[in-house]
Amino acid sequence: MHAALSQTRRSSGLRRVNLERDLRAIAALIEEAFRDEMDAGGRATISELRGLSRLGPLLRVAALADRMLRGIGQGFVWEQDGQIVGNVTLIPADYPPELGRTIIIANVAVAPAYRRQGIARQLMLAALESIRAGGATAAILEVDAANTPAWRLYDGLGFRTLRTWHAWRRGSDAPLPPRLPDSPPITRRPEGLWRAEYAMAVRAFPPELGGLGWQRPLHPREFHRSLVGRLGDFLTGSATERWIIRDGERVRGSLWARMPFASGVIQLTLIVPPEEKGHLEEPLLNYGVRQLTPMERALSCEHPADDEHATEALRRYGFSIRRTLTHMRLDF
Ligand SMILES: CC(C)(COP(=O)(O)OP(=O)(O)OC[C@H]1O[C@@H](n2cnc3c(N)ncnc32)[C@H](O)[C@@H]1OP(=O)(O)O)[C@@H](O)C(=O)NCCC(=O)NCCS
Repeated sequence: MHAALSQTRRSSGLRRVNLERDLRAIAALIEEAFRDEMDAGGRATISELRGLSRLGPLLRVAALADRMLRGIGQGFVWEQDGQIVGNVTLIPADYPPELGRTIIIANVAVAPAYRRQGIARQLMLAALESIRAGGATAAILEVDAANTPAWRLYDGLGFRTLRTWHAWRRGSDAPLPPRLPDSPPITRRPEGLWRAEYAMAVRAFPPELGGLGWQRPLHPREFHRSLVGRLGDFLTGSATERWIIRDGERVRGSLWARMPFASGVIQLTLIVPPEEKGHLEEPLLNYGVRQLTPMERALSCEHPADDEHATEALRRYGFSIRRTLTHMRLDF
């Protein structure tokens, strides 16, 4: 038994992650590989992983409650010269079952001194094989739009580009914009219009381009909260405002503000279909931003980079681009 263990320890190449043994080294590798692009959230995750790595055998219990930790445990590492020099993480997406089991590929990282030797490709091939064997129908990932090496890696493995998105942010201290004259009337969306709003959103965010954004496939559950969803919101103190511009029973465009409990960043979703582009972005943003500015909370908005009208309107209302990410997908 001991001989077998030390044999594994000395071994080199690809193997499954052993959370208890590998977590600390994986956290260090991810930190090194993503040093240049890591934001505060990423740094917090790394220090959380370091803390968790001290749990020893209890890690398996912690993994039951932590999706990222569980995903790291489902992944693969590449070991060479007695150290972990490559990693890939596999996290099941929280998608409605009728969309098929989808796996998120994350933390693809190879230590700088070991790059261009085919390690990432081998890790990805093992990951895809295991995803397929597990019965999933698709794998998704996001890659920084400027990260050509990674994009080439995924493109070469058959991933297709869905869409590129800007992650926008507006500071909590940004000023209240003046009311827009001549704005069409904007109201809260009545529950009974959710299907009309969904039909409009299908044109704005076609499912084949990835829907509403990262891990947000276009699905009725985003428009019509189930009882369980509403109960969850109530218990966590979060809420979603939905403002629309309508023409009778037709929804022309909408803006959502998802407000997490207390002080979290408010997430906006701006939905304007092709036939209304250039007309509704500003009225909706003006209304939403005016409603939300007094709350003194930062606003975020993930929106397609190819949408010039929204880009212009978001800039005008004090948003700036934090990151630009390309979403990719491989169907099995
Ligand atoms: C992206 C990364 C994982 C690639 O790891 P790697 O082990 O060097 O990649 P591989 O040697 O397996 O290369 C596989 C393919 O990827 C592409 N690729 C990798 N590095 C490249 C580079 N510097 N320039 C252009 N293409 C590159 C090539 O298509 C390559 O195939 P080829 O060698 O036949 O041309 C590595 O550079 C890394 O860790 N970067 C920092 C973290 C990161 O950006 N991760 C991806 C997040 S989405």
